[in-house]
Amino acid sequence: MCIQKLLKYHQAQMHNRFRKASLYAITCEVATLSLGMAGCRSLPPSKPEALWTMEEGRGAQVFHQACAKCHYPTTTRGLHGPGLQAITKVKAMPSGAPPTDERLTQTILHGHGTMPGTQLDDQRLNDLLAYLHSL
Ligand code: HEC
Repeated sequence: MCIQKLLKYHQAQMHNRFRKASLYAITCEVATLSLGMAGCRSLPPSKPEALWTMEEGRGAQVFHQACAKCHYPTTTRGLHGPGLQAITKVKAMPSGAPPTDERLTQTILHGHGTMPGTQLDDQRLNDLLAYLHSL
């Protein structure tokens, strides 16, 4: 819905007795709209599950076993650690380090700050990295 339409709707409503309610509604709409736009501007969406490769699908399983209790994958909202949406597409991760495979591997295997390391064989690590690239 575009802002102009909302404003016209609002003007029309001004004259009736639901004035207060409509003012409240438009405030909510505009707030939602600007939040939505902020979300679009900052990060590309994660790849939908239907388009995952085999590797990404296996990586998602590794993620659910080893990471999901602390990280949301497809939003930047924090859980115990930061949300990981678009983690390989950003210039810098929350720590400021670039999201290279080397750096991600180090974080995953050895942990970072209060994040514990996870033991993974090469196959599972590669699958997990492929999945992280799809976020
Ligand atoms: C017990 C909770 C926990 C688990 C399990 C966990 N993390 Fe974390 N993770 C954290 C916390 C807390 C941070 C923030 C720590 C910091 O940077 O000081 C973090 C940070 C990160 C970061 C950002 C690092 C940076 O440089 O900013 C990445 C990427 C990450 N985790 C990926 C993963 C992946 C992938 C897994 C699964 C293998 C995983 N984490 C498992 C808690 C966890």
